[in-house]
Amino acid sequence: MNNTKNAVYPGSYDPITNGHIDIIERGLRIFDHITVAVLTNPDKQSLFSRDERLDMIHQCFKQNPRIKVDTFNGLLVDYLERKQIHTVVRGLRAISDFEVEFQMALMNRRISRDVETIFLVPSVCYSFLSSRLVKEIYRLGGSIPQMVPEVVDQRLKEKFHSQNHPPA
Ligand code: PNS
Repeated sequence: MNNTKNAVYPGSYDPITNGHIDIIERGLRIFDHITVAVLTNPDKQSLFSRDERLDMIHQCFKQNPRIKVDTFNGLLVDYLERKQIHTVVRGLRAISDFEVEFQMALMNRRISRDVETIFLVPSVCYSFLSSRLVKEIYRLGGSIPQMVPEVVDQRLKEKFHSQNHPPA
């Protein structure tokens, strides 16, 4: 019998932040392997392409054989079924996350009884961090390197600061 504990940490990762990394590191205290599953639904607009998002995540975890990086589209529960993994990890930053995460966890369980969602709480220093805010700050000419991995800081600067267009 395979006793390996696996979990999927799904998300848009547009781009990955230090908050995501914090959750993954906490998850590795509980699970043997975590699959970082990047949503690539074409109807969800993203700043970074699928390959750019994957590349940044790969660069963050290339030294760690316990982290797998994958993509999925369509329903998360279908992806879990294909992978034969039944546990989803999600981060809960604040009460404001709770409602939407609670709804998603219950809906996923409604569609597939096998699915369990584990919520992990990030370090308080990341409790206000989101990919959306990170993008907004860089787009407006700022930067917050201590909140994103170096490769992400670099890529955001390339996207927004070196294109010769003034901040919106
Ligand atoms: O990083 P995000 O954008 O908060 O991640 C949201 C994500 C990708 C976990 C969620 O949108 C998702 O699971 N999408 C896949 C489609 C799906 O299964 N929808 C039903 C959710 S109840």
